Amino acid sequence: MKIVSVVGARPNFVKLAPIHKSLTKYCDHVIVHTGQHYDYEMSDIFFKELRIPKPDINLGIGSTSPGEQIAEMIKGVEAELGYGQKEAVEGDGGGVASKPDLVLVYGDTNSTLAGAFAASANNIPVAHIEAGLRSFDKRMPEERNRILTDHLSDLLYAPTGTAARNLKDEHSAGRIINSGDVSVEVVNEAWKFSKNSAILKELLLEPKKFILFTMHRAESTGTYSNLKTIVETFRQIELETSDRSRSSDLKQPKVSSVSSSSYAGKYIDHGDQLQIVFPIHPRTERILKSYGLYEELVGLENVKIIKPLGYIDFLRLVKESYKVVTDSGGLQKEAYLCSIPCITIRKSTEWVETLQGGWNTLCSFKKEEIVDLILQRIPSLQKDDCKEIFGSGNASEIIRDSIIFGFH
Ligand code: UD1
Repeated sequence: MKIVSVVGARPNFVKLAPIHKSLTKYCDHVIVHTGQHYDYEMSDIFFKELRIPKPDINLGIGSTSPGEQIAEMIKGVEAELGYGQKEAVEGDGGGVASKPDLVLVYGDTNSTLAGAFAASANNIPVAHIEAGLRSFDKRMPEERNRILTDHLSDLLYAPTGTAARNLKDEHSAGRIINSGDVSVEVVNEAWKFSKNSAILKELLLEPKKFILFTMHRAESTGTYSNLKTIVETFRQIELETSDRSRSSDLKQPKVSSVSSSSYAGKYIDHGDQLQIVFPIHPRTERILKSYGLYEELVGLENVKIIKPLGYIDFLRLVKESYKVVTDSGGLQKEAYLCSIPCITIRKSTEWVETLQGGWNTLCSFKKEEIVDLILQRIPSLQKDDCKEIFGSGNASEIIRDSIIFGFH
């Protein structure tokens, strides 16, 4: 049996890791990389750290307008599957990805949709890992990609009960399998390495004394006012925590000082400045620079802007952070799996389960709202009633068994 996985962006690679591991002994598993993410920190490091073999094919498509990017990817994937125009005229050259039994796609990126479309257009069965997620906000490219991919797919692997229900409600034609979420395995597996990561030392951070911040979505970064709000929010956090003890020498004993801040007593009291660690996406860096806001952000004493991190170091930061602040989809769930409160600066989320019990809070681009949520003390959060929302940590086995042995 030949199975082709089409991937292209960071969140695809993370989901590919456990699937490759569980499939590799049972079939010929070919990896096609569209080239959507191409920087070392956005691509190669994930293959290396998560022990995924180098892609068999890299289409090197890179970044352009969404329409052009998706069109180029469809054309490229179709050719690799042995159904391009040239292949139709000259005969299929019999490449490694040619004429597979199944194409696997992951998540909601442009590469996901392109892979599903190229396969489906040529009557190759498609399986979608992480099917059925909905934010019900069609302005998001990821929501459009999810809906279209689900309706092109023959096998729909839902990570949660809600996702499976969404698929039923939409009368999706594919077979729905509530597999649980492969991220549970990724987090468990990566943590074995993450616990030895030196990233805290390298960044001079102390556990629970920093916020982990990420932002990259087109809806967030597209307007000046949103990014200006972020700069002002972090400036306010600096002010609110600046008259506390500010030892940069981590070995010195902490001295608690009374803050004149309106948050004193009521809110977090670290006795230290609350650091903000920001592994920056290339898109966000470029836009911040074009708005003249990058220098302002770098100028803030409490903000550490760093290059995008690999999964191992990143997971360590998630686990050791006080709170996560993000517009990412996957990070909301990773924070939940690591039991770290998350503040999501978005109108909606596809990971609705994380909102239960207060683990994840949605908020708008309003400085006061974000500052309040960051500085609020963490209430005692309970997880008992939402146990195993994301499955039992064996999603990749369930997926393998259903593909290879026809179970489930
Ligand atoms: C993509 C996914 C998003 C996912 C994110 C994770 C889509 C529609 N979006 O968004 O769901 O959460 O990946 O990171 O597929 N760039 C680089 N170097 C790279 C990759 C990108 O500089 O290695 C720059 C490009 O110049 C581009 C911008 O980042 O202009 C955005 O890249 P793109 O692939 O369009 O989408 P992401 O924002 O990364």
